[in-house]
Amino acid sequence: MTGGICIMDPCNMGKVEQFLSEFLLKKEELKEVMKRMQHEMDRGLRLETHDKASVKMLPTYVRSTPEGSEVGDFLALDLGGTNFRVMLVKVGEDEQRGWKVETKHQMYSIPEDAMTGTAEMVRTRPELFDYIAECISDFLTKHNLKHKKLPLGFTFSFPVRHEDIDKGILLNWTKGFKASGAEGNNVVGLLRDAIKRRGDFQMDVVAMVNDTVATMISCYYEDHSCEVGMIVGTGCNVCYMEEMHTVELVEGEEGRMCVNTEWGAFGDNGELDEFRLEYDRLVDEMSLNPGQQLYEKLISGKYMGELVRLVLLKLVNEDLLFNGEASDLLKTKGSFETCFVSQVESDSGDRKQIYNILTSLGLLPSEFDCDVVRLVCESVSTRAAHMCGAGLAGVINRMRERRSQEALKITVGVDGSVYKLHPCFKDRFHEIVRDLAPHCDIAFIQSEEGSGRGAALISAVACKMAACMLAQ
Ligand code: GLC
Repeated sequence: MTGGICIMDPCNMGKVEQFLSEFLLKKEELKEVMKRMQHEMDRGLRLETHDKASVKMLPTYVRSTPEGSEVGDFLALDLGGTNFRVMLVKVGEDEQRGWKVETKHQMYSIPEDAMTGTAEMVRTRPELFDYIAECISDFLTKHNLKHKKLPLGFTFSFPVRHEDIDKGILLNWTKGFKASGAEGNNVVGLLRDAIKRRGDFQMDVVAMVNDTVATMISCYYEDHSCEVGMIVGTGCNVCYMEEMHTVELVEGEEGRMCVNTEWGAFGDNGELDEFRLEYDRLVDEMSLNPGQQLYEKLISGKYMGELVRLVLLKLVNEDLLFNGEASDLLKTKGSFETCFVSQVESDSGDRKQIYNILTSLGLLPSEFDCDVVRLVCESVSTRAAHMCGAGLAGVINRMRERRSQEALKITVGVDGSVYKLHPCFKDRFHEIVRDLAPHCDIAFIQSEEGSGRGAALISAVACKMAACMLAQ
């Protein structure tokens, strides 16, 4: 602060703002992030640099050539967040486009030991894939479907190296999953084996897709310009339609293939080092996968609340917040949930919502404290939106260059709790993307139930290609 008389709070607010200024990213810095993202994407696509690239650019075997689709009932599974979902989806067809009706669905929470235990069966505990098979069995029993051998589409939201649409190995877990015995194995194989072990129903697993891919596909049916799928939820990732001739990991030159960028791992080779702050380093060190998914850790819902908590503790230590004293709860890892960030920023101005959250954490905040907490939330979530926007602008600008188009018209299908539920994330994000991708006409559409519907739709296409018999 410059000299002169000041009453205590404005002075402190100045100090707080100074602290938080390191979360502000200049346009030049965002352009640099965008450039580096593009560089890593190129390295991920090229055979000779792929292994070392942080952004893996995984081919999905979802192609642009329309194959038509089967009609009928499909089972869709969705694994990737804190819950596991089973859905029954009816896929039909009209003249212009496929249509689908979701008929039934059920959510199952994943027990901690299934998430972090072994993927193979042991006698004492229901392990991840056995637990999944158990949930499917429960669903089929409830809906009287056990006698049917339904085609199944699996939305599996982790990095998978595909060999085909229904075959791929899990490279590594992300987002707090740790079940052993799965990394390096064919995920569809693990599912088929678990179903076989039970022996009480049969399933025809026809496709496995990432959630970004499922989201893109489900939006594509509404809008044929949708060639990008994005998730900003527990994790953060993007897929898009890339020209086949640049996807060096797959033979063939014609048409396009959807590439799952797995951009959450951007930064794992040091590309983000000068942008990461002490809070980011702490979040990373305390995570189940230190050194991995560093870009995702700046953005996604799995980490956003925790980042805010660490900044608040720092301000307390500096005597700038809560009279220099944190409650035991605030000192507890994970206590500031990501949904609190949304709630704090949704406060109408009377500070009621902020006050309630802080008292639930055992604090007795002043008005000043409430304002500081709001500023912290805004700083963390705005940086997330800008970082994410720089990445997406990188993807879209690359698409435009490859297609040699003066102006690219493109739709992005989006899903995820941060994007959908945070009151300002999407506006800040859209603004930055449009600013950094000036020659593109970008529309964003939110997918509803995209994971399940997308998995069912792609299974319907896969069935058509394989001319599989629907035993219904
Ligand atoms: C993580 C996963 C990725 C997924 C994303 C969103 O980044 O690695 O596969 O798409 O989370 O759920």
